Amino acid sequence: MKKLLFQLDTDAIPNAFDTVVAYDGGADHVVRVGNMTPDNVGRIVEGTVFTRAPAHKKFTALFVTGSNIADGQALFDAVKKCFFGNFRVSMMLDSNGGNTTAASAVAFIGRHCNPAGKRAVILAGTGPVGQRAAVMLARLGASVLVTSRQQERAAAACRVMEQRFGITLEAAAAADAAATNACLDGAHIVLATGAAGIQLLTESQWATHPTLEVVIDANASPPPGIGGIEMADRGTVRHGKICYGALGFGGLKLELHRACVGRLFEANDLLLDAPEVFELASELVKSR
Ligand SMILES: NC(=O)c1ccc[n+]([C@@H]2O[C@H](COP(=O)([O-])OP(=O)(O)OC[C@H]3O[C@@H](n4cnc5c(N)ncnc54)[C@H](OP(=O)(O)O)[C@@H]3O)[C@@H](O)[C@H]2O)c1
Repeated sequence: MKKLLFQLDTDAIPNAFDTVVAYDGGADHVVRVGNMTPDNVGRIVEGTVFTRAPAHKKFTALFVTGSNIADGQALFDAVKKCFFGNFRVSMMLDSNGGNTTAASAVAFIGRHCNPAGKRAVILAGTGPVGQRAAVMLARLGASVLVTSRQQERAAAACRVMEQRFGITLEAAAAADAAATNACLDGAHIVLATGAAGIQLLTESQWATHPTLEVVIDANASPPPGIGGIEMADRGTVRHGKICYGALGFGGLKLELHRACVGRLFEANDLLLDAPEVFELASELVKSR
């Protein structure tokens, strides 16, 4: 029985990165569909849940992709509503790699400190990666502050995550260095999740910071999102702090992404969002 993965992308052109990882993760065939919305997804879901016998339903799965996490969440939720009884297949949400990237970064943080009771600041945390990292750290017991250039954008992202995952987040504006420094007051963990090629923190802003323990930058395009961090940093100690660059945790992200796809074909009722993806990341990081 062939393993069929329907890649449902909320953008017009389905993301090629996700397609490649889908094949590498074990799909025999990936059906790529763009412009997916809650309104037009129903017929595809029907086609996936009604076709195969119960024992074979696990060989069909859904993968929600696209650049916008809000659109991805809406699609994921709409598909869930189409399922009933055993008429369901496993599904994963990873808009812009948000879940797998965030889970890898947070899993590495957990190697160095227990986030419970720590203060974590997610710089430019309004994108898919930042939002999901905030969720994962909050679920581990950290007090999490999400920043944006605009207070309302940060607050809106926090509201959505709070409602979806039953957590509490703080939002703040950090449009300049002074505001960013204020946000970092008392922080133990800082994770930069700004758009590619945008520097959010200079080296001098964190090098002598009195409480920071872990400094992580998700940005893989120069200049670094956090000055003084090398992309390949992986637990590198700089200025007395544990540092990670985008490539430093990017290997785990890819391994995790492939493992999530593989897991979709193990049962027909798995729903992989932030908590489930993080759980798998926590297992995989142990072998690194
Ligand atoms: N290491 C890996 O394996 C891996 C995998 C995937 C992605 N990434 C990287 O992870 C980072 C986050 O990805 P994402 O998709 O979540 O990011 P994103 O949605 O592209 O951007 C995140 C936030 O950056 C802020 N931003 C945009 N332009 C800015 C500017 N000119 N100045 C300051 N802030 C700006 C925006 O926040 P506000 O408008 O709210 O300020 C935006 O919501 C990216 O750098 C991406 O390349 C790494």
